[in-house]
Amino acid sequence: MHITLIAGTRPNFVKIAPIIHEILRRKRLGVDVEYSLIHTGQHYDTRLTDLFFEELNIPEPTVNLGIGSGSQALQTGSMMTGIEAYLLQHPTDLVLVVGDVNSTLAATLSAKKLNIPVAHVEAGIRSHDSSMPEEINRKIVDSICDFYFTTSETATKNLQLEGKKSDSIFFVGNVMIDTLLQNLPHIKDNKTLSRLNLSSKNYFILTIHRPSNVDNKDKLVTVLQNISEQLKDYTIVFPIHPRTESILKETNFKASNIQVIQPLGYLDFISLVNSSKGIITDSGGITEEASIMNIPCITLRSNTERPETCEFGTNVLVGNDVNLLNKSIQKILENNWKQAQPIDKWDGKAAERIVEVLRKMF
Ligand code: UD1
Repeated sequence: MHITLIAGTRPNFVKIAPIIHEILRRKRLGVDVEYSLIHTGQHYDTRLTDLFFEELNIPEPTVNLGIGSGSQALQTGSMMTGIEAYLLQHPTDLVLVVGDVNSTLAATLSAKKLNIPVAHVEAGIRSHDSSMPEEINRKIVDSICDFYFTTSETATKNLQLEGKKSDSIFFVGNVMIDTLLQNLPHIKDNKTLSRLNLSSKNYFILTIHRPSNVDNKDKLVTVLQNISEQLKDYTIVFPIHPRTESILKETNFKASNIQVIQPLGYLDFISLVNSSKGIITDSGGITEEASIMNIPCITLRSNTERPETCEFGTNVLVGNDVNLLNKSIQKILENNWKQAQPIDKWDGKAAERIVEVLRKMF
């Protein structure tokens, strides 16, 4: 059996790591399974790619298409052309895609048009907000792929409501949490806190990169100013995404308690989250990680495709509502935040389940 994995952005790498490790483990046990990894090159900065390969022990990609940035259509189209050319020259039994980024969409379209079966890891999650490119990607990928690996019963139900056959859907759990649980024991000696002059529970983390939150300069500055004022007695560590950085550079924004730093590697980031007082973010993956680490998490979005992070985890949605944001910040400061509950199958064994399903199927 030959599986071709396709990935291109930072969160993709966190998700493919445990799947590749599981494939390699089975191969060592004598199972007849091979894999190739196509890196689309959607993310290309060392801190968004190489660092993750190194820290998560992901072997070098078989090929890097080096597509880079561009408009939605240009980026997706260029990736499709590159992926198609590769797949034509390198036959495979299955293409496996993860998440909801443009690389995921391009890979699925190219493979399906070559009649190659596609499996989608993290299938079925829906924000019902089509203004997000990710939601469009999720819907299209799930409308044409063949096998669905879901992180929750809600995602499974979404797929069933969309008419997918039950025997093509597998509720396996969350590969991002596999990576987290594998790596948490490795952060004991991490030096990020001392390097940044921070002490445990005395700082917040801020990450913000969604076009809807950062592309409008005034809106971005207003949110940052408000957070800075609400947390005037705390440091706010702000690992900045390149998209946000280039927009913020066009403003005069400065706040003495907001410490802007370059994007962090995986271990440094989870180590920082683990000792923080709280997180303010617009990322989806971070809400999952915060929920498992039981760290209060405020999401600057009015919807989520990951409802279990709100129902069982530590996540609260505040959207654009400044009052709600401020009330939520106060709740964290008063140590009055909800406690995380276990989430079904977010137990570190998702990749094992995925590869087992594929082994039986092929
Ligand atoms: C992408 C995903 C988003 C995910 C995020 C994780 C899509 C539609 N969006 O958003 O779901 O949460 O990755 O980070 O696929 N840039 C660099 N260096 C890089 C990559 C990007 O400087 O290595 C800059 C470029 O100016 C680029 C911009 O960031 O134009 C946006 O990059 P892009 O890959 O289009 O989307 P992200 O915002 O990273």
